[in-house]
Amino acid sequence: MAFDTQAINKSRQNLTDYDEIWLFGYGSLIYKVDFEFIASEYAYITGFSRRFWQGSHDHRGTPEYPGRVLTLTPSSGERCFGRAFKVNHEVFEHLDHREKNGYLRHEIPIHLSDNRTVKGLIYLASPDNAAYLGEASIKDIATQIFNSSGPSGLNRDYVYELAAALREQDEVDEHVFEIEKTLVAMD
Ligand code: SIN
Repeated sequence: MAFDTQAINKSRQNLTDYDEIWLFGYGSLIYKVDFEFIASEYAYITGFSRRFWQGSHDHRGTPEYPGRVLTLTPSSGERCFGRAFKVNHEVFEHLDHREKNGYLRHEIPIHLSDNRTVKGLIYLASPDNAAYLGEASIKDIATQIFNSSGPSGLNRDYVYELAAALREQDEVDEHVFEIEKTLVAMD
């Protein structure tokens, strides 16, 4: 699959057919909200875990020295906490551009805080995308993140801002917190 997923995403769902559109963010979409939304609340999805296995050539790294950002990996029995946004279909023009480095839109059930489950969308970067980096040790992931930066800033700030947002909601994500701890020790 090509690096730039914008054209593919446009043909994946017909967003104008949706009565309401919910987007679930699990990474930078939790704390960097640079799009309009109608409603927002904390939420979770099941069957996935966050992992710093996706390369970032455009935001937190460069084509020569990619950084590492989050994607989701299937993980039976796991619950991934994040933030749900009710949005208009127009915002996907911007979001598809923002998430263009290997992420595809997928439909997924989102569990909202009032026990409602809604059909929603996530941006997921699967192992067959050109920017995928895959599994590595916590030390190696942290070292790559520590040494990377791109147009959106230092790669380590992606980790720190996400960890702070999770902590604010009393949420624990061992993978994220382990990488944060390793980065702090390097700083
Ligand atoms: C997300 O936040 O939901 C997708 C990954 C990212 O943009 O960090």
